[in-house]
Amino acid sequence: MRVVVVGSGIAGLTTALHASADHEVILVTGGRIDAANTAWAQGGIAGVLSEDSDASPPADSVDSHIRDTLLAGAGLCAEDAVRVLCTEAPDRLHELIALGVPFDRSGGVLARALEAAHSAPRVLHSGGDATGAAIERVLVEAARSRVDTILEYTRLIDLIVRDGAVRGVSLTSPTGANRIDADAVVLATGGFAGLYAHTSNPRSATGSGIAVAARAGALLADLEFVQFHPTVLAASSSFLVSEAVRGEGAVLRNERGERFMLAVHPDAELAPRDVVARAIAREMRGQGGRPVVLDATAIDGQGLDGPGLDARFPSIARRTREAGYDWNTEPIPVTPAAHYTMGGVATDLDGRTSVPGLFAVGEVARTGVHGANRLASNSLMEGAVFGARVARALSARDREPFAVADGSVIGVAVPIAGTSFRDEQPLSLGELLWDEVGLVRSESGLQRALQHVSASAASGGDRDEVTVAALVAGAALLRRESRGAHARADHPDTDPSLARPQFLRGES
Ligand code: SIN
Repeated sequence: MRVVVVGSGIAGLTTALHASADHEVILVTGGRIDAANTAWAQGGIAGVLSEDSDASPPADSVDSHIRDTLLAGAGLCAEDAVRVLCTEAPDRLHELIALGVPFDRSGGVLARALEAAHSAPRVLHSGGDATGAAIERVLVEAARSRVDTILEYTRLIDLIVRDGAVRGVSLTSPTGANRIDADAVVLATGGFAGLYAHTSNPRSATGSGIAVAARAGALLADLEFVQFHPTVLAASSSFLVSEAVRGEGAVLRNERGERFMLAVHPDAELAPRDVVARAIAREMRGQGGRPVVLDATAIDGQGLDGPGLDARFPSIARRTREAGYDWNTEPIPVTPAAHYTMGGVATDLDGRTSVPGLFAVGEVARTGVHGANRLASNSLMEGAVFGARVARALSARDREPFAVADGSVIGVAVPIAGTSFRDEQPLSLGELLWDEVGLVRSESGLQRALQHVSASAASGGDRDEVTVAALVAGAALLRRESRGAHARADHPDTDPSLARPQFLRGES
């Protein structure tokens, strides 16, 4: 059968590589094949390898990985999806190693880093802090030799839906518009953190696959859960300072030099990301909006793979130097930024969406694996694990599409109609999302965001971007509690009766 895979990060490439053994695969990507968000990932890829049973101390296990993932997800993870992720992670790691990903080693064994909310060091890395780039390079090389057709600089405009099933894609590229018939389409288009004014993502991370799937009538879920990374280098547009740096002992300080995280959470700088990000935002408000600092000066290289900070984190060392700092001797200014989007197109454990013929995998998908807050470094692994599963499921054509029980779809994702709303000071979509659909939300702010988005649609804003912004603001409005990455100033507590995903149906 013919399969169109849209997206060339770890999720799309893994799907394409696995599927190309049995099917004709056409890989479509909006830019250069290697320009995916995956290549920006620093910290690493989480998974427990059997050799970890020899680790001393602390020993690690797949069960601990499952437990940590569920805890981070704040009561909203789909446990079966988490179990699949953590149990199948070792196979995917072995596969990446066999393909040639040069994971860092220390004393002959794979080096493993600690990141926030992990109970043991289990994050594999490559090139110190260039893990995503190493994985992307190896997968792209394999795809170039195995995948039938690769269409770069080609954007997905819409899915072709006939008789209630997806039958192909309509595309646009510098050479014009194009339609391709397909037996199955796999969306691996990534998340939408790039829509925010402050982001750790490339600007291409706009969530276009979510908008396209919504127009095809697919079920969506958990769109209100947007993860903000605590530490992006202030004054750079989007350069991440990996959580692994805090994992190695770097601490956060405010302008008074205080280690403010000590008073916020028992795990201090390694508390869950949403806790750290909101604490930083609070400190910044208290010091006139100026960034806090990340102090890595006490890390002397003991226990690191090499002589010191620069050897362990070469990319971050280079970028901080370019920004005028020597992080060996002085703290560096950092701020939070939108980083990862937990929600997306709702799927089963094999990437099937609610629309026959349509699959989704990676950040564009909502498998339930992240719940209300993703555990660090689970996202690259999600792309690998579920990419391989989608490829296996492609041939099982008799299987029912993803469905949820009657009554659990709480709303319809309506097309955005323009309104006559006007504001004295129009905001860009990115500023609007940052201000009103950001670290802390409220009913009035979310209403304001929806009005602005409508106005933006009326004045010709990008169709996919305004659709995604409206869906996210709408989902955040509907969740009247604070949970995981979703914080409501007007509903500060977690409501146990709302411990379920919010499914929305796109309108076809
Ligand atoms: C990081 O390196 O801090 C990011 C890792 C992740 O988001 O999973």
